Amino acid sequence: MGSMAKDASPSSDDSHTTEQPAVKASGIPMLRAEDFERALVLDTVRVTEQAAIAASREAGKGDEDLVDSAGTDAMRRVLNELEIDGEIVIGEGERDDAPMLYIGERVGRAGSHAWPVDIAVDPVEGTGITARMVNNAVAVIAIAEKGGLFQAPDMYMEKLIVPPPAAGKVDLRWPVAANLASIAQALDREVHDLTVVILDRPRHEELLREVRAAGPRVKLIGDGDVIAALSAAIRGTNVHAVMGTGGAPEGVIAAAAMKCLGGEIQGRFVPRNDKERERLEAMGASADRVYKTDDLAPGNHIVFSATGITDGELLRGVKFFRGGARTHTVTMGHFSRVVRFSDAIHLLDRDARVSIQI
Ligand code: FBP
Repeated sequence: MGSMAKDASPSSDDSHTTEQPAVKASGIPMLRAEDFERALVLDTVRVTEQAAIAASREAGKGDEDLVDSAGTDAMRRVLNELEIDGEIVIGEGERDDAPMLYIGERVGRAGSHAWPVDIAVDPVEGTGITARMVNNAVAVIAIAEKGGLFQAPDMYMEKLIVPPPAAGKVDLRWPVAANLASIAQALDREVHDLTVVILDRPRHEELLREVRAAGPRVKLIGDGDVIAALSAAIRGTNVHAVMGTGGAPEGVIAAAAMKCLGGEIQGRFVPRNDKERERLEAMGASADRVYKTDDLAPGNHIVFSATGITDGELLRGVKFFRGGARTHTVTMGHFSRVVRFSDAIHLLDRDARVSIQI
């Protein structure tokens, strides 16, 4: 494991015995990792569960704004109940465009015992697919110590996401065929045994041609490259890579998950005009640079949670029954090295008599 395990182990980290978080050379505070994750993991599950339940209630009605505001409202409500001093660094948009969970918004109950954290959210990752109630929409959040998540501008990012065995063995600047050969070798299989996920967009025409020429299967998705990233990093999904251009904020959220799972994301910002280029420069970022997992999620303490809104290959969507709902969530902690899948039954109506079914 990286520096965090060494720095934060009980024998080597004196921050366990001091009240104030120590500060690493990078400037990122070293919190007491176990405490941080113990305090936040269960809370984080609740945040995405409630967002997923609220958004899923409105699924299939053909109204993207409705699902988005339902998920965002629920996520914000739960975040504001938590013992954190949180700042949204990846959110629903700029302050003027987004009424809730905008970039810079403070959330949590603050107070002297609150953890100072940065938060990346996507209450409904896949608003279009939720509105149409098709597969793979999730509610997602990543929480890290201050400075632990890159503040990516809301623009496109070219991405390459690979599973743990292929981490460190690919390069976004290489030709597609070279990366596919390297992934196949790392996974001890042929290129034609791979499945690559690509967002189904006209901008990917050339990429699609190159990938198909190399021989893997291609799974075109309508939306949702964060859950595709998770699928690539978790065995058993038969997804082995994600390629193509999607949202940069989603790239940061995927990086937080990759950090916990040991997979890798490489990303390059793709500004579409001068305004976006200026914005990128003003944020100290560059379109020429390839950002890797640790650049996008440099935190030492990262907690990640995703709850299925609609059914998907990794997570089941929300199921409703009289008086309640059932959710399926994956939660991870970078320090604790635990990836937890949880199946929860929420008895929303206190008076309803519910028979729990396994
Ligand atoms: P939303 O959460 O806004 O619905 O975004 C879904 C998504 O498909 C992301 O997963 C992806 O990164 C991005 O949109 C791609 O953007 P575009 O739809 O403009 O190609």
